[in-house]
Amino acid sequence: MSDKQRITVPPSGDMTATAWHPACWRTLPARQMPTYPDPQALAEVERQLATRPPLVFAGEVRALKAELARVARGEAFLLQGGDCAESFAEFHPDNIRDTFRVLLQMAVVLTFAAACPVVKVGRLAGQFAKPRSSDFEERDGQRLPSYRGDRINGIRFDEAARTPDPERMMRAYNQAAATLNLLRALAQGGFADLHKVHRWNLEFVDHTPATARYQDLAGRISEALDFMRACGVGESATRVLQGTSFFTSHECLLLPYEEALTRRDSETGEWLDTSAHLLWCGDRTRQADGAHVAFLAGITNPVAVKVGPATEIDELLRVIARLNPGNESGRLTLICRFGAERIGDHLPAILRAVQREGAMVVWSCDPMHGNTIKTASGLKTRRFDQMMDEVRQFFEIHRAEGTHAGGIHLELTGQNVTECTGGAVAITEEKLASRYHTHCDPRLNAGQSLEIAFQVAELLKAEREAGRTAVHARHAVIPDLPRDDSECA
Ligand code: PEP
Ligand code: CO
Repeated sequence: MSDKQRITVPPSGDMTATAWHPACWRTLPARQMPTYPDPQALAEVERQLATRPPLVFAGEVRALKAELARVARGEAFLLQGGDCAESFAEFHPDNIRDTFRVLLQMAVVLTFAAACPVVKVGRLAGQFAKPRSSDFEERDGQRLPSYRGDRINGIRFDEAARTPDPERMMRAYNQAAATLNLLRALAQGGFADLHKVHRWNLEFVDHTPATARYQDLAGRISEALDFMRACGVGESATRVLQGTSFFTSHECLLLPYEEALTRRDSETGEWLDTSAHLLWCGDRTRQADGAHVAFLAGITNPVAVKVGPATEIDELLRVIARLNPGNESGRLTLICRFGAERIGDHLPAILRAVQREGAMVVWSCDPMHGNTIKTASGLKTRRFDQMMDEVRQFFEIHRAEGTHAGGIHLELTGQNVTECTGGAVAITEEKLASRYHTHCDPRLNAGQSLEIAFQVAELLKAEREAGRTAVHARHAVIPDLPRDDSECA
């Protein structure tokens, strides 16, 4: 199938690419948008933001799209992760460094197991806006607007904090800029050296109980590195990251902010949302005729859509057609988040329908958002085994359908928090309250994230071996096929 093959589903509406403008979403129904009490203050912030420098550059965005195109073709794997919600309170260089570090550690394990490049995308440097199931929250008889992320309002339960304040957009922009500055330095400095990252992994495996299962893989990576060193491949050639191959992403939710940061690429004339390399549409705002899809349709960045159990296949096909009418490979990622109990009922039919349309997409698995539960004490949590169960089924279903399980999408932090239960250290529900710091959903801590990487590595290795077996099987039948010797005749 050619990358440029057209999808047959016609895009709805009349928002053609040429008529598109960053403000086009304003005439459409927009869910999950805050109500700002002072529209003039909002307009003033939008005006200021529109004059601020871009956070990302067109060349980087094109590079990410090219890497995602490799994922769509089954030649690479996508690792996307970071905070559920970044916050002003947790803004600290150590937090950014530690999240980046755990993503690098995971990437090394996955790269080795998959024997293919891992595309590294952070939920970082811009993930400040949250969709909520209810517009209001009630406590002890008091009713206030729900917390929607630090870009919009404050988490404290009082009237002043919960009132949407446009100035928060400026603060989020500044924090995103400073975060990106540190990430670029970390990505290009010696921090990302492969030997160093692998040493951190060995420390984890050696010092964490019940991780013997990962020793074998870690040992084989050590051998590979020793071999490379013996062959004279120096440390400067073994950076986990070369150039800017670490990318940023966040949910495209607060459209006034995204609009203000959308600029024309001077080289191509295309519209680029310069707030992040990749933007995704959440499960609550992915209506085919809604404002968020209309906005994403016009920007040239790679985009993603969350696909949950309420997804109607017809509507999903319309969304795909609107977001990627040219069927450009690497443009669109579908992030599946059904939950371990429901993935089997939904994913096979969706895979088949998308395959039938010939749509080129990256398939990624978010095992977080369909597996959130509430403990008896009222804390939101997720169980490690349930998340791994969804990831395992994701791989199995793809194998059965002949499609590529292209990536994982995780909420994680480099800090030693206690927000998800399970894992080698066996965090129990009783222990959750001891270091429960998230501003929104429960995140995997550093150890749990690495364990997910080791277990996904096992799945990737199995997939690779199955692929190799299939190739061998194909080769084995060749002598039995009728031969075409016309060239030699
Ligand atoms: C999220 O990724 O934080 C989120 C809210 O996800 P979803 O839209 O899939 O619920
Ligand atoms: Co979340």
